Amino acid sequence: MTTAMSARRLAALIGTGPWQPPAYESLAATIARAITDGRIPVGVRLPSERELAAALGLSRTTSTRAYSRLRELGYVRTRRGSGSLVELPQVPGGRIDHLLAPAGPQPGGIDLTCTATLAPIGVLDAYDRALSKLHAYLPGTGYYPSGIPQLREIIAERYTRRGLRTHPDEVLITSGALGGAAIGIRALLGGSGGVLVESPSYPNAIATIAAAGARIVPYPLEVTEAGHHWDVPAMGQSMRDGRVRAAYLIPDFHNPTGALMPDAQRAELAEELARSQVVPVIDESLVELGLDGTEPQTPLGAFVPDAITVGSTSKIFWGGLRIGWMRVPGRRMDEAAGVRLTLDLGAPVLEQLVAIELMDDQDAILDQMRTRLTAARDRLVRDLGQALPSWHITVPSGGMALWVRLPEERSGALVTAALSHGLTLASGPNFAPVGGLDRWVRVPYTVAEADLAQVAPRLAAAWEDAQRMPEPRPGDRTRIVA
Ligand SMILES: Cc1ncc(COP(=O)(O)O)c(C=O)c1O
Repeated sequence: MTTAMSARRLAALIGTGPWQPPAYESLAATIARAITDGRIPVGVRLPSERELAAALGLSRTTSTRAYSRLRELGYVRTRRGSGSLVELPQVPGGRIDHLLAPAGPQPGGIDLTCTATLAPIGVLDAYDRALSKLHAYLPGTGYYPSGIPQLREIIAERYTRRGLRTHPDEVLITSGALGGAAIGIRALLGGSGGVLVESPSYPNAIATIAAAGARIVPYPLEVTEAGHHWDVPAMGQSMRDGRVRAAYLIPDFHNPTGALMPDAQRAELAEELARSQVVPVIDESLVELGLDGTEPQTPLGAFVPDAITVGSTSKIFWGGLRIGWMRVPGRRMDEAAGVRLTLDLGAPVLEQLVAIELMDDQDAILDQMRTRLTAARDRLVRDLGQALPSWHITVPSGGMALWVRLPEERSGALVTAALSHGLTLASGPNFAPVGGLDRWVRVPYTVAEADLAQVAPRLAAAWEDAQRMPEPRPGDRTRIVA
């Protein structure tokens, strides 16, 4: 069913002017920005041209021309009888998506919406070796809803080595960490209930948690000149005030801020979780990506006996493997395995074998990855510092992206402007569980070296354009779903 957005709601979102001449252009740009931001959801029906003109105090010609401009740009499709429906522009090689750009940027463009690297050297060889071992599995059905035993053993050993004693029966192989998070949240909630989510957080996880029927309760990370951090007593208060049953947390090189929760806080947080009877789903997707020799902390799960922990090969090896895992304490495993069967019947056998092969080579691959990421991070920090001195950057001790504070709340405008400089970016509000964050933008340093040199100059040009766009309105700060 199509949801309609009233003219009043749209006016509250985009403001009522004044519009820079030509008014239809700035009206169209403002609506486009709100669509790219995710504040006007894709699929929604916009108010009629006549209603919009009346709500904004503009002439009918202006609203008609603005809609026509939006159609030209690919933000609106008008169908006889169904009105003007919001969509995202098609670009060659993929489409702009405020969660993830699935198939890369337009020719000559640079995709900065995704923190993921190209496959490192060694992945193809691992596929070869895995293929030569596949024959042993062919006499069976190939269904391993919990994962192939050898991989479950390896994952269990890895947890145990990191200080979190784990039996292979407590490991479930999933479709990426996101698959694990979806199973975890569904198993804990059973269809409804509050979930504490850090703000900012990883957009696809926010969407996954919402899709599980959860009521999302945001916990805004503390921010100082030195970067983001957790205030554990404030988190405890949010858990109690929000009456949550679960929490989704990224304590290790948090996406998007790169923050790392110190061990002392983990112990403190465990007490708050126990006191509030909240079970966390801990996302360790980025745990191996400490830079400058930053060592991983003790797994948060080691302090919280009830915790569900998810991990993945996506950030250390390659996103295309789609192999992740979850550690589920024994008494919850049946429930988690049951939920899993409602989503899929297991991960592909070949890719699980590839993961085993890559784990054998992990140290070499990770050394290479960390060296590449450190150089890229330092290069981007230096370039952005020179090209955009008014932007505030904290250098993360791990992860794959910079979380940059802009001098004004214009990240939506920046995203819109960046498109015409061949950059696809994710604006701050995409990372906000319930709204805000338009002063922030995530800039990954995972793109190829040749592209990296282009990022700061293109961002600087886009920022200049963004500053000339109409002033943001108070309503721009909130991501409102129709
Ligand atoms: C915190 C976090 N969790 C999960 C994912 C997705 O992981 P996967 O590809 O393993 O599903 C990402 C990818 O960026 C991430 O940053």
